[in-house]
Amino acid sequence: MKYDFAPMEGITDYTFRLVYDRHFDGISRYYTPFLAPTAHRLFTPKDFKEIDPSVHDISLQVPQLLTNDAAVFTAAAHELKEMGYNVVNLNLGCPSGTVTHKGKGAGFLKYPEKLEKFLDEIFTKSDIPISIKTRVGTDSEEEWDGLLEIYKKFPIAELIVHPRLLSDFYKGKVRSEAFDKAYEQMHCPLTFNGDIKKASDIQSLMDKYTDMDTVMIGRGLLADPFLAEGSEKIDKVRLKNFLNDLLTEYVERFGNERTAIDRLKSIWVYLAESFPGSDKTVKQIKKAQNAAQYKSGVLQALS
Ligand SMILES: Cc1cc2nc3c(=O)[nH]c(=O)nc-3n(C[C@H](O)[C@H](O)[C@H](O)COP(=O)(O)O)c2cc1C
Repeated sequence: MKYDFAPMEGITDYTFRLVYDRHFDGISRYYTPFLAPTAHRLFTPKDFKEIDPSVHDISLQVPQLLTNDAAVFTAAAHELKEMGYNVVNLNLGCPSGTVTHKGKGAGFLKYPEKLEKFLDEIFTKSDIPISIKTRVGTDSEEEWDGLLEIYKKFPIAELIVHPRLLSDFYKGKVRSEAFDKAYEQMHCPLTFNGDIKKASDIQSLMDKYTDMDTVMIGRGLLADPFLAEGSEKIDKVRLKNFLNDLLTEYVERFGNERTAIDRLKSIWVYLAESFPGSDKTVKQIKKAQNAAQYKSGVLQALS
């Protein structure tokens, strides 16, 4: 089984991905958090840092695009191909209101006819393979049948399914039956994404979906960065080295500890799950107002 690191806007930025990859094994590919190109400017300087081919090993990275404009998608995909990338990913899963109310991300699933036209254009005009990361509908699982019929019409390089509806956000049980349908019907490579937290979760997916060779993991890898290495034990020394390295890189990037620590605190929201007996310490880390408070909390948690 191959493990891909899910894109997580605000967390798995380029600094995180580079540092994580220095400290841990087992990840096949890292997805960039979504890049939102526009007709006015395909990539901002901030976006470019996420995809800069002189910094990243592009064979390890999949750039993700969020747009409902086929011409913009095609132009951005072409730029990425010129940089050396061999696949781009389309985001049809983002549930955030600011994205969905513009008919993008999971909001695009509400307009199947428009979506089909968009897919027709990007698959006809793009000169690079396209994978799709999707939810299974917006408000009702009944939408999934129609969406699958659309997806079947296109040469999708890989379909990554997060089997939840837009209205589920990231909560509630994943909708396994919807994924079963995709597994039965789709002929392209299929990847499961959602709530993989333990080795036994991966084993269950391997047992059930024997033809599937990749899973995508997000929060599970933040909670247990060792998950893709096959170990369920947290090695505190390695974890400490990783977090220290990440803090150093963020301070260098942002030029101040405050912003750097805010980034680290957002990781601890998930990492806290691996420290069930340390509620007080983890709270101190998550609420740290300055570097000293943060560092002393981490020191306690990892001692
Ligand atoms: C804070 C946060 C940011 C996310 N950003 C993105 C994103 O930029 N692009 C995307 O496709 N999914 C994004 N996701 C969704 C994740 O990639 C993933 O589909 C979701 O967390 C379910 O997988 P998991 O249970 O393994 O975390 C985000 C999720 C979270 C919690």
